[in-house]
Amino acid sequence: MSSKLKVLVIGVGSIGERHTRCFQQTARAVVSICEINDGLRTRIANRYGLANAFGDWSEALASDFDAAVICTPAHLHIPMAIEIAERKRHLLIEKPLSTNLERVDELKRSIASPGVAVMVAYVMRVHPALLAMKAALDSNRFGGPVHVSGCSGQHFPTYRPAYREIYYRDRATGGGAIQDALTHVINAAEWLVGPIDRLAADCSHQVLEGVDVEDTVNVIARHGGVLASYSLNQHQAPNESSLTVVCQLGTARFESHQQRWRWQIDPADRWHDEPCEPLERDDLFIAQANRFLDVVEGNAVPTCTLDEGTQTLRTNQAILRACESREWTRP
Ligand SMILES: NC(=O)c1ccc[n+]([C@@H]2O[C@H](COP(=O)([O-])OP(=O)(O)OC[C@H]3O[C@@H](n4cnc5c(N)ncnc54)[C@H](O)[C@@H]3O)[C@@H](O)[C@H]2O)c1
Repeated sequence: MSSKLKVLVIGVGSIGERHTRCFQQTARAVVSICEINDGLRTRIANRYGLANAFGDWSEALASDFDAAVICTPAHLHIPMAIEIAERKRHLLIEKPLSTNLERVDELKRSIASPGVAVMVAYVMRVHPALLAMKAALDSNRFGGPVHVSGCSGQHFPTYRPAYREIYYRDRATGGGAIQDALTHVINAAEWLVGPIDRLAADCSHQVLEGVDVEDTVNVIARHGGVLASYSLNQHQAPNESSLTVVCQLGTARFESHQQRWRWQIDPADRWHDEPCEPLERDDLFIAQANRFLDVVEGNAVPTCTLDEGTQTLRTNQAILRACESREWTRP
């Protein structure tokens, strides 16, 4: 008898295929899928040798599984999660949690009874360099945080050539730079220094062909007493992302493109680099899958809880509102 957990991956587009592969890589899970696109469903089922591949949601829901990974576009996450939670199955929900706050409280109520674990898949929370930097910040060796800056950019058409045809093209399905990309940075920053409680923002569609959602965004924010600014675009050539936390006694910077974090305390000194082991693209997702399975087995806490995912969802929404109103806004 296999003691592997049965994991149902819902939606096997770009990230759902990755989760299918990465959960298999853990060697701790038997994966089944639910996908409405017939051709895609068959291809993925064949590619990964899956015994069960459902095209019908009710059939998938009625099947034998312990946990689900929700990888559909964001506006579908909460309704699907509620149905699964009501059946007392565990949930890994892709980011962003949703495109609005509708039914989030209902989901919270449906997981309130013991036995249902929920984790939101903000994957940077398993990045070894970011984890190491968080541990250093939490140890207080740099003193309290006072100023944060996040700076990110990449050429989205290179990494996601189909961007015009997918959820990305419409804010209502989770599209645009704010809900799709900046949300990773915001969630990481809220993890490091606490929730954003005030912000102002500006965004625009500047470059990406074939869509009119924003591809460029600037945010200034307060995480309580910590001042912050975040800038991100999805069209520059360099693929770079850094998050700098200036503390009272020293400065720490995470650089995902360099797979390291670094720190400096003495102005007369230099950066001290703290590289992590080289990472392949799947490595973080395998680590996240293992962590989720640990949570399901009761041996770990979620990397990102439903409450933390909800806070970042509120911040996404506030950034969108602030871009319209041009006023300071509260999440
Ligand atoms: N963590 C990350 O790094 C990361 C990366 C990419 C995407 N994502 C997130 O994952 C989600 C999906 O993104 P994607 O890039 O894989 O999108 P995608 O468009 O490539 O895939 C979504 C899939 O869901 C399927 N689908 C839609 N409705 C369905 C339904 N009712 N039942 C079953 N299947 C259904 C679609 O047919 C499609 O194959 C989004 O929320 C996105 O923000 C996260």
